[in-house]
Amino acid sequence: MASPYVALVTGASSGIGEATARLLARQPDVRLVLVARRQPRLSALAAELGGATVIAADLTDDDAPSRIADTVEREHGALHLLVNNAGARWNGSFAETGWDNVARHMRVNFDAQVRLVGALLPLLRRSAGEPRASIDGAPARAAPVAIVNVASTAGRVSRPNAGAYSASKFALIGWSDSLYAEERTHGVHVGLVLPGFIATEGFPATELRAGRLSRLIVSTPEVVAEAILAAGPGAVAERYSPRYYWIAAAARVLLPSLVRRAIAGGAFTTATAVR
Ligand SMILES: NC(=O)c1ccc[n+]([C@@H]2O[C@H](COP(=O)([O-])OP(=O)(O)OC[C@H]3O[C@@H](n4cnc5c(N)ncnc54)[C@H](OP(=O)(O)O)[C@@H]3O)[C@@H](O)[C@H]2O)c1
Repeated sequence: MASPYVALVTGASSGIGEATARLLARQPDVRLVLVARRQPRLSALAAELGGATVIAADLTDDDAPSRIADTVEREHGALHLLVNNAGARWNGSFAETGWDNVARHMRVNFDAQVRLVGALLPLLRRSAGEPRASIDGAPARAAPVAIVNVASTAGRVSRPNAGAYSASKFALIGWSDSLYAEERTHGVHVGLVLPGFIATEGFPATELRAGRLSRLIVSTPEVVAEAILAAGPGAVAERYSPRYYWIAAAARVLLPSLVRRAIAGGAFTTATAVR
């Protein structure tokens, strides 16, 4: 008999991760594993969703990846979807915040994802070779075993006061492209999601939401959750969310001096305050 579809979501205690967990919970035969630091939030969400494995962990801790891998192996014995979503941003120019701010972004937005994939890849590969349930409504075609890395449109276009954040997301995108090519022959799909401005706790987009026109480019975590399912079980390689954000990335490549001038001139400036 096909095993249930086991899905692990990091950063499930708020925002995009929480919305993704809610969307996955509505699919048939899914077993959820929720990861973040705030255990009470994860436990409340698990209870609301009718049960989930909760792992309270700081993903930057040395032992977090092995602890998570041991728990998933022990409780489920398989893993079909890893959503690397947890992340953070602390604004500030390089002159104000220096190397320390770059290093802390890399730890949480890049190193943590790489280390978690390292710990879970053997289980993902093994699960790719076993029968499993489909969550795309087509019983004859099981969803692929997948990793989804949640990067950012800031991983294509850098803005002032967000250089450290952008650097960590550029790194995640570059690494994901390689991983996509490497894992194809092992049955593990690697999808990339690049959100634009999404109103969440960590990324409130307060100034943009206050503007009559600028609020139109701010979207919701639920929209990104749909993109994450498309990039994971849906096997799409790369998805901007909302989808029209691809224009920003294309403009950066095709019209670099125009984009550079617009950004340096104050368009989409990130607030300078360090959170
Ligand atoms: N919102 C946007 O505009 C936007 C745009 C582009 C990309 N993104 C990306 O989307 C992802 C989700 O962000 P969000 O907007 O949903 O923000 P959010 O609501 O602040 O959620 C961030 C999540 O990451 C978790 N997290 C942060 N540091 C962690 C750590 N050291 N260990 C474990 N978990 C940690 C947080 O949980 P705990 O605090 O409980 O640990 C929380 O669940 C991030 O990777 C972000 O870079 C967001």
